[in-house]
Amino acid sequence: MFDQPYGHTPYEKAFGGDVYGIGYDEARAARRPIRLGVIGAGGVAQSKYFPSVARLRMIWEPVQIAAFAEPRADHAAKITGVYGGKHYPDYQNMLREEMLDGVIVLSPDHLHAEHSLACLELGVPVLVEKPITRSLTDAGKMVEAARKANCLLMTVANKRFSPPYRRARWLVEQGVLQNPALFSGKFNLGYDDVDLFEAGTIHLFDLAGYLMGQVSTLSAAGVRRYAKGKYPIDNATVTLQFASGAIGNLYTSASALSFKPWERVEVYGKHAWLSVEDQNQLILYDSEMDGARVWQPVIPNTLIFDEEFGGYMGLIQNFAQVIRGNESPLVTGQDGYAAFELLRATQIAIARHEWVSLPLDPTAADSEATCWLSQNS
Ligand SMILES: NC(=O)c1ccc[n+]([C@@H]2O[C@H](COP(=O)([O-])OP(=O)(O)OC[C@H]3O[C@@H](n4cnc5c(N)ncnc54)[C@H](O)[C@@H]3O)[C@@H](O)[C@H]2O)c1
Repeated sequence: MFDQPYGHTPYEKAFGGDVYGIGYDEARAARRPIRLGVIGAGGVAQSKYFPSVARLRMIWEPVQIAAFAEPRADHAAKITGVYGGKHYPDYQNMLREEMLDGVIVLSPDHLHAEHSLACLELGVPVLVEKPITRSLTDAGKMVEAARKANCLLMTVANKRFSPPYRRARWLVEQGVLQNPALFSGKFNLGYDDVDLFEAGTIHLFDLAGYLMGQVSTLSAAGVRRYAKGKYPIDNATVTLQFASGAIGNLYTSASALSFKPWERVEVYGKHAWLSVEDQNQLILYDSEMDGARVWQPVIPNTLIFDEEFGGYMGLIQNFAQVIRGNESPLVTGQDGYAAFELLRATQIAIARHEWVSLPLDPTAADSEATCWLSQNS
């Protein structure tokens, strides 16, 4: 792991005269070519996925978005002009006519289950954006469909692939922070025209599980202090108890000032703790006498791509490598289910004002949370 660059051009390339890291990469170029499809080519597709695939191709990863399904003609015209790829207004026609190695589902949340299930039923591997879907029942159906079809289902937890979080997890795994006792996650989404939990906090739910393991119980409090929109909560705190015996806290806000979402994650172990500041800087405090160890890019920003630092390139590359049979998925369908289960448990804990134990019964949890949402929206 420490041989891996911190989101910038690998040292041997950069100092070998290939400062942008685009020189011929024999090992990468020799991988089996992967043809992907995309369902839903709106904001995140155009600003993260298409550019990430283009960057991966520039560094010799044989992966392409061969086709995409998008009902909006204006989006489609722009994408074919900039990136190419065959456009289908209807995703079913794309699945019928194209031989795809995998599909990335980037449609609105409420369509994730329909689109993912259609692919899985045809045996086509799926990478689906977060939240996995908008109901625990549907999320369970997706995980089960993948299991039955013996087909790959990955969910987007792009932050797991972001260099500071990958390294934080490595430090926990390697025992530098052995048996951590405490997790702290702070997230500031900063705008309230989307659901605070589904839009942003879900990343922190996932990171809590990624760094600390399974959650066994949680309690939560939430308020709608400023938001006039349709969502019941604009600020919340969540207290977590993990199966390992560790504890944790999340603070999340839709209303505090933020042009761009901001976040901080901390993990406390024995004689050591670490902090990841805004998905950028990792600080490890593991000595009483010496200074802290800090990983922060010192390379000029021109050589650091958001596609890489945001985790999207790593995620897409892992999806392609799993399809080829070369790697295991770093994030599974079950992980997407687990993150959404924490979201549901948080809603229920706020509604009931009491501790909630996991796992949840999906049908009962969906109906209780939906009822609370409709009464408070
Ligand atoms: N990982 C992250 O941090 C992150 C960031 C932003 C968005 N997202 C997620 O990505 C997904 C898309 O978000 P967005 O911001 O791009 O939304 P968006 O509305 O900009 O894009 C969605 C696209 O899907 C298209 N679409 C609608 N119905 C469709 C259908 N039946 N078939 C095919 N396409 C259809 C829409 O026309 C639109 O272009 C959401 O699930 C969102 O939660 C994740």
